[in-house]
This record gives sequence, C-alpha cells and structure tokens, in this order.
Amino acid sequence: MSRDLAGRRILLTGASSGIGKALAEQLSQSGAGLLLAARSQDKLQELVERFKARGNPAFALRADVTLEEDRRRLLEEAEVRLGGLDVLINNAGVASWAHFADSNEAVLRQIMEVNFFAPAELIRLAIPMLTKGEKPAVVNVASMCGRRAMPAWSEYSASKYALCGLTEALRGELARFDIDVLLIVPGLTSSELPQHLLLSQGRAKIDFSQGMPPEQVAAAIVKSLRKNKTETVLGRDAKWLLRFNRFFPRLTDWLLARKVRKLYQE
Ligand SMILES: NC(=O)c1ccc[n+]([C@@H]2O[C@H](COP(=O)([O-])OP(=O)(O)OC[C@H]3O[C@@H](n4cnc5c(N)ncnc54)[C@H](OP(=O)(O)O)[C@@H]3O)[C@@H](O)[C@H]2O)c1
Repeated sequence: MSRDLAGRRILLTGASSGIGKALAEQLSQSGAGLLLAARSQDKLQELVERFKARGNPAFALRADVTLEEDRRRLLEEAEVRLGGLDVLINNAGVASWAHFADSNEAVLRQIMEVNFFAPAELIRLAIPMLTKGEKPAVVNVASMCGRRAMPAWSEYSASKYALCGLTEALRGELARFDIDVLLIVPGLTSSELPQHLLLSQGRAKIDFSQGMPPEQVAAAIVKSLRKNKTETVLGRDAKWLLRFNRFFPRLTDWLLARKVRKLYQE
C-alpha cells in the first residue's frame, strides 16, 4: 500500500521546533493540509504564513497536549478547518537527563503526561474522525530509548517504552477501522531537545550537534507514511545499539553499568 500525501488532512503536534518543524515543512511541500500544534503560537504562525503564501493550506493552534480541553479543541479545529482528519502525528515530546535518584515525581509525571498520556488520549479522541478519513494513519514518534532504555534517561525511556507498547497493541486493535499505526524510532537528532530538557545533570558526553539533522528524520517520517512502514529505526547509533542489544542484552547492561560506575567514581 502507498499513501499519497497531497490533500491529506494532517494534525501534527510539536510543530514549533526540531523534528516537528522540519516535518511540517516537508508535509506542506508534499501538498498536505496541516493543523500544527504546540505551545509556541508565534513559531507556528510563522510557519503557517509561509505555507499559505505558497498556496498550501495550513492552520496553527496553540495547544498544550497535556490538557484535555486543548486536545479536544485540536480535533474540533481539524473538523472545522480541514474538514476531517486522515493522519495524526504524535511528535510533541520532552526529556530529562539525570539519574532517577536525583530526579523527582514532578519530572516523571510531566514526561509521562507529554510523551505518553497526551498521545494516547489524542489517539482515542481521534479514532472516530480517522475512521472516516482517507487511508487513515497514526504516527507515533518514539525514540531508540523506547526500544533500549538508557541510564540517565530512565524517565524518558519509560515514557517511550509505554508509547511503543501502546503503538503495537493499537496496530492490531485499529486494523478493524483500517487505521494504520506507524512507529518512528529515531536516534540522536540535532534538534532543540537539549535546550528543552526538564533536568540536565547527566555526566556522559552527549553531543546533540553530532546527531542527525531534523530534516533527515522528517524525510524518513514522510517516507514511512508514504510506504506505510510499520516501524522505522533512524540513525546509525540507534540501528547499531538496537542490533547489539538484541544479540547481547546482558553484555549491553554490563557495559552501560561499567560506564556509569566510571562516571560516578569520584
Ligand atoms: N532530539 C533527539 O535526539 C530525539 C531522539 C529520539 C526521539 N526524539 C523525539 O522526537 C520528538 C520531537 O523532539 P525534538 O527532538 O524535535 O525536540 P524539540 O526541538 O524540543 O521539539 C519538541 C516539540 O514538542 C513540543 N512540546 C513539548 N511539550 C509540549 C506540550 N506540553 N504541549 C504541546 N507541545 C509540546 C514543543 O513545542 P512548544 O515548546 O512550543 O510547546 C516542540 O515543538 C519528541 O517526541 C522526542 O522525544 C528526539
């Protein structure tokens, strides 16, 4: 099955920066009608004006995806502005880089709200509209941490594991409505994620600027939608780590524990 994106009605969360912003650009170029969501209304508006100037339909809605009333408004707006919904892309996300013992309940709850409960409830709300859509699909942007959890990313990993689990279960459940459920598993990406971390106390050296450009991730998401690819792992680091972990899970645990001990020796 292949999906033509021209004329598709797409709701994209987290469109104000990083991967979401690059994805909005590429989806617009492919002729999709877009409803863009994030809390930074000014950044969304800038994108919408550019897309509209090119003649592509685009709308922005300031929304905090953790709020039920904002999620409802998003779907109402999709009905009013786009006349329905064909694709929901859950991309909004937040992370924290710190050891679990040094973090707190507020951080864990915020991460679960943004990365898991928000996409889960948006999907539930969107099902009736998607059922009436054209080749409907849900795309969930997880992370390699959702397939192999990493020290100092414990809360983030847990949220992305939950999202991966939900995605797999829904793939079966939503088949009866002909809604495809796709999963994106990116590795390190040079987005604005490090500037948005809830905590930034990890000790390992991680250079986000060495990650994939967000445009590369966006292009792969567009391709997965077109080809209807169930799961897309992106980035050499992610592919390498997930393969190594599949064959040597205990060795991976041991190597990561050794690294943590070394970093926290003093
Ligand atoms: N960067 C990486 O290395 C990497 C790797 C794997 C997976 N990912 C995943 O990729 C996705 C995009 O992240 P990114 O790297 O592009 O990071 P980013 O540049 O920080 O973008 C995050 C986006 O999420 C939005 N967002 C955050 N909290 C929100 C909330 N409560 N309500 C609505 N929108 C919210 C932000 O918009 P506002 O602040 O304007 O609300 C922003 O548009 C995330 O799910 C992330 O976990 C990233």
